Amino acid sequence: MSLVATSGGDALVLARTHERAAEAAREAEAAPPAAEAALVGGAPVPVLQLEGISLSFGGITALDGIDLAVANGEIRAIIGPNGAGKSSLLNVVSGLYRPDRGMVRLGSERFAHVPTSRLAALGVARTFQNLALFKGLPVLDNVITGFVHRRRAGFVRQILSTPQARREEAESRAASEDVIAFLHLDAVKHQLAGGLPYGVQKRVELARALVARPQLLLLDEPLAGVTLGEKQELAAHISNTRDAYGTTIVLIEHDIGVVMGLSDRIAVLDYGRKIADGTPDEVRSDQAVIDAYLGVAHEGETELVV
Ligand SMILES: Nc1ncnc2c1ncn2[C@@H]1O[C@H](COP(=O)(O)OP(=O)(O)OP(=O)(O)O)[C@@H](O)[C@H]1O
Ligand SMILES: [Mg+2]
Repeated sequence: MSLVATSGGDALVLARTHERAAEAAREAEAAPPAAEAALVGGAPVPVLQLEGISLSFGGITALDGIDLAVANGEIRAIIGPNGAGKSSLLNVVSGLYRPDRGMVRLGSERFAHVPTSRLAALGVARTFQNLALFKGLPVLDNVITGFVHRRRAGFVRQILSTPQARREEAESRAASEDVIAFLHLDAVKHQLAGGLPYGVQKRVELARALVARPQLLLLDEPLAGVTLGEKQELAAHISNTRDAYGTTIVLIEHDIGVVMGLSDRIAVLDYGRKIADGTPDEVRSDQAVIDAYLGVAHEGETELVV
């Protein structure tokens, strides 16, 4: 801190006080989104919390007593072998599946079954493991469809093109143009989604999920099936999304190398159970994770090979 030379001590105290206030304001501005989480009893409220979620299909246990807390502003990966229950978990969070047991807390609300109709209003958006774009529509139109739920004007008002409907139309187009620019899709925005390389289509799907500025974004294998170059590009876009919009991101991904570099914390599922949950370093050296991925425990091997 700089000292102000004055004749009296008061001016010095005042200068210090002002500086502290300015410092606090700068810190508040620069604070990561996690610091903005609502506080209950002094503790930050997770954006998403799963409490003892279990789900089975006939005799198959897809999820077995899963607890998970996702903090505001974090990138949280869910990893695990095929059939481990990763997509089922996202389907429970987004209300597509009703768990047999357990509760899902989204912000301050707690659900036995998340209402899909309120998902957008709850600030949640998602992408799917298999692309779900309108392949015959241009990129821009695909992205605009992600904004639709934010519109208040009903179908009839839209048909009649009332001022409110026109305003919302302009708003959704502007928001879509913004996110298209953010994800570097400008050059293809008038092209049909179906004709684009797979990695670009994945980016369009990300844009569509992001256009409504969700607080929580659920991405089911956003990097699957793309080339190495596209994968690195997409991973950077996901990271930028969190940094630019403060979006909390839960993502499923098989590429451990990418996951380790991208995530703040990683939860590992195996046969529907959560077998590990921690920072990339913690998970990397977790014996249960090594066993699940390699099948057998190798004597003296303590690190996950990535
Ligand atoms: N709708 C369903 N009907 C019947 N079984 C289901 C259904 N959804 C999931 N399952 C079963 O639940 C288990 C977990 O599946 P899930 O799709 O959640 O796994 P996953 O970890 O996403 O796998 P992958 O990495 O292959 O995508 C699997 O045995 C799967 O066959
Ligand atoms: Mg899956």
